[in-house]
Amino acid sequence: MNKNARKAIIAGNWKMNKTRPEAKALLEAIKPLVANAEGNVEVIACVPFTNLETAITVTENSNIKIGAENVHFEKSGAYTGEISADMLTELGVAYVVIGHSERRQYFGETDETVNKRTVAALSAGLKPIVCVGELKWERECNITEEVIARQIKLDLWGISKEDVKNVVIAYEPVWAIGTGLTATPEQAEEVCAFIRAELAKLYDAETAEAVTIQYGGSMNAGNAAELLAKPNIDGGLIGGASLKAEDFNIIVQAAVNG
Ligand code: PGA
Repeated sequence: MNKNARKAIIAGNWKMNKTRPEAKALLEAIKPLVANAEGNVEVIACVPFTNLETAITVTENSNIKIGAENVHFEKSGAYTGEISADMLTELGVAYVVIGHSERRQYFGETDETVNKRTVAALSAGLKPIVCVGELKWERECNITEEVIARQIKLDLWGISKEDVKNVVIAYEPVWAIGTGLTATPEQAEEVCAFIRAELAKLYDAETAEAVTIQYGGSMNAGNAAELLAKPNIDGGLIGGASLKAEDFNIIVQAAVNG
């Protein structure tokens, strides 16, 4: 196990928040705070589609990369309201969140569409942040590992060993998202280690060691250091706390020092 061989990634997931002027102000506040993470921790802000161009302009010549929050799987065509991977890369978008539990829960996202979006993102040169996680009921029924194994297998179906090294996996227990309930560092580590073991089965140990696995779900300034200290937790996908520059920076610094 060599955590240092993997890239630590702290990504904000802004969800449906911030107008363009608000996005500009937030990124301008974050930029100087996280500048010292360069070369050590990858810092990303995943922002609403309407903010992408502004966010890319504001973060030019900084160490902050910009991500989108979703992408369609077709290259182009009659898909009203959708955005393709090529449209994102042309703007300068580097990452994209795929299969977030809110998309699975409210917008009919399935493992099949998550897989198609992941394949499309990779072939356009975007790095997907693929979200997996169990529901509270599934954890109570003691099937967390079954649920996660199924998601990993289906979401990564057909993705080569070379390509999977460009995939970030975010373990986000659904019961911890936006609820203030965080998985304990032990619970989070247990599942992140399980994900790595599944990757080793699907690919091989060397490939599994190269994949960045994040934890997400009420990660905040108070609990980040403990979570990020775990051997299989290589970063975080941060919702609420990514909307406050100071809090987001404390999480970035925990990764820099962790
Ligand atoms: P949260 O959201 O940090 O607000 O719980 C995390 C996420 O949804 O990615």
